[in-house]
Amino acid sequence: MSGASALDRVAGSRVLVTGGDGLIGAAVVRALAEEGAEVTVYDLGGDDAAARAAEAGARAHLTGSVTDAEAVGRAVADQDAVVHLAGRAGLDQGTAEEIYRVNALGTFLVLQAAALAGVGKLVYASSINASGLPLNPHAVLPSRYPWGEDEPAVIADAYSLSKEANEAAARALARRHGLPLTGLRYPLVRDITVDDGAVFARHVRRALREDPRRQACEGWTYLDVRDAAAATVAALTHETPAAPGILVAAPRTYLRQDTDEALQRSAPEVPREQVPGRDVPVDLHRAVSLLGFKATLALEDLGEHLLADLDDLEEPAS
Ligand SMILES: NC(=O)c1ccc[n+]([C@@H]2O[C@H](COP(=O)([O-])OP(=O)(O)OC[C@H]3O[C@@H](n4cnc5c(N)ncnc54)[C@H](O)[C@@H]3O)[C@@H](O)[C@H]2O)c1
Repeated sequence: MSGASALDRVAGSRVLVTGGDGLIGAAVVRALAEEGAEVTVYDLGGDDAAARAAEAGARAHLTGSVTDAEAVGRAVADQDAVVHLAGRAGLDQGTAEEIYRVNALGTFLVLQAAALAGVGKLVYASSINASGLPLNPHAVLPSRYPWGEDEPAVIADAYSLSKEANEAAARALARRHGLPLTGLRYPLVRDITVDDGAVFARHVRRALREDPRRQACEGWTYLDVRDAAAATVAALTHETPAAPGILVAAPRTYLRQDTDEALQRSAPEVPREQVPGRDVPVDLHRAVSLLGFKATLALEDLGEHLLADLDDLEEPAS
């Protein structure tokens, strides 16, 4: 068991990134390598996976599943830290059984192996869905706005359940082994700069048309993938509770409307405090106080015209 409460520094540290071939994982590998970490990717492999890992700056690539306890045990041996991002990243990523097994069992096995190997720090992917609100098939809304990590969970789907299980496993293994852990409740994470923001702008308009309640539950939050990587790397060197995961997001919504107006239109029955301007109706203070994290890239920086207008959700001309 390690006595360290967090990694002293990233430079020169050996860091295993599970899911390092994925969207957030590849950005984390890149950010860690830029800071001088010795990164090993652990992912399912496939065509050119090792070449992609090397291109992102990783020193090594291991092929394996997080549900394979022995392979995970070998992968975490001799690592100073682990960033655990491998998983099925949504309800569309397999059957309910596959999603729950990979996310819940896989996370338990990675956390347990890290604890037994004496790894100094582990950062794991939770989600804004740990609350169960956005993916709930019923017409639920938060109990209040802004809502935070203490929002009571109302889980009714396998993905959110797996994220709640991840946070429960983090609490249990921190308690049992003293493993220093931090979870991050990522919101919608994308590379928002693709095609000068047009791809992301189209994505949010479609999401608002198809499931406006889900977007209101999420407080119209998002995070560029480079900011998600920065928060993840910051978590390696900060001491935090193992759970609940820390909500991270860009400080303003992707909407053109002021947040108070959007809340009045979308969730008038939910008690709320006044939210200034286009600030997100989600409490981000733990990201600042525990990690010193503030997102730097905003959709409006790429062009005000990219913001979604609740009065006009037609496909924007790209
Ligand atoms: N992208 C988002 O909007 C978002 C939001 C909230 C939470 N998250 C969480 O962040 C994490 C990373 O998400 P992402 O967007 O980078 O997803 P992604 O699908 O781009 O990457 C996931 C990676 O995990 C790997 N993987 C899947 N099953 C595996 C297994 N059994 N063993 C080893 N590797 C496996 C995949 O090959 C892939 O490289 C996930 O836990 C996801 O639930 C993502």
